[in-house]
Amino acid sequence: MNAQELIDIAKKLVADDKGLLAMDESTPTCNKRFAKVGIPQTEEMRRSYRELIVTTPGLNGSISGAILSDETIRQHQKDGIPFVKALVNNGIVPGIKVDAGAKELAGHSGEKISEGLDGLRERLAEYRRMGAQFAKWRAVITIGDSIPSRSCIEANAHALARYAALSQEAGLVPVVEPEVLMDGNHTLERCFEVSENVLHTVFGQLYRQRVMLEGMLLKPNMVLPGLDCTEQETVNQVADATLICLLRAVPAAVPGITFLSGGQSPELASARLNAMNSGLRPKMPWALSFSFARAIQQPALEIWQGQELNAWEAQQALQHRARCNQAARRGEYSIAMEQHE
Ligand code: 13P
Repeated sequence: MNAQELIDIAKKLVADDKGLLAMDESTPTCNKRFAKVGIPQTEEMRRSYRELIVTTPGLNGSISGAILSDETIRQHQKDGIPFVKALVNNGIVPGIKVDAGAKELAGHSGEKISEGLDGLRERLAEYRRMGAQFAKWRAVITIGDSIPSRSCIEANAHALARYAALSQEAGLVPVVEPEVLMDGNHTLERCFEVSENVLHTVFGQLYRQRVMLEGMLLKPNMVLPGLDCTEQETVNQVADATLICLLRAVPAAVPGITFLSGGQSPELASARLNAMNSGLRPKMPWALSFSFARAIQQPALEIWQGQELNAWEAQQALQHRARCNQAARRGEYSIAMEQHE
């Protein structure tokens, strides 16, 4: 794989105002979401749910790529077609989550480090043989009284850069995800300060590990007040803060920014993305796109309830959220879309 092929895949993932669908929940996370809505937590239910997503009619109109988990990339549709093949046949680029989860960082109470570097070269080669074209790694940064610590930010940034370099070596576009969590009562200003610090550190490490910025995507959090903060800024204030933070810290060579949703409601995530892409704002150097899991899937999951007879309606809900976010990329989303579709 040469550099140009990586650049082409990265560009394709943000082309035509489409975005990424994150359906890479680990088995424990997927089970937790199933348990909340009363769906049995079995391998067959997880497979069946992922089949519902992959076979949603017209999904390729607004989704460019789908991120799978290790379990899902090895699974098939009922008709025997592997999910990866079904996605490719549908013009959707398959991707894979490659971190092994965020674990307690030793000596740092309340902080996490994402594991998974050992043996990663071999795993990436296998995923590539299976048809994946991009790879995601999520680092988790928690805001609290005296955290995040410098050591937590540096350890996670280093791991992100090591994984990104290995991904490019394997011919997979890295989707680099440093997530500053929205849990807590911190202010938007505090989230700004931490996000800026994290992004500067991540790009410093990416430079040192010789990652080609043109052949990667960044998947950051939006700059938001904590969920329990008494002051909740407007959609436009969030969009402004997020863009200022990204302009300060993300090199223009990066082709695209694909936000995570992080626990925002589906409507707010769309509205905030829309505000960032609104025609009134100056054009940004990178595409501003989405790579949502909950903000695309949650309504569909709640409708499905594990019942075949709800599948069609659930697919309509999934398709609706994907289309709302495509509209948000064009600055054409409005709350009216929620009432009329
Ligand atoms: P959410 O959009 O639900 O935050 O998930 C994005 C993701 O891929 C987390 O790693």
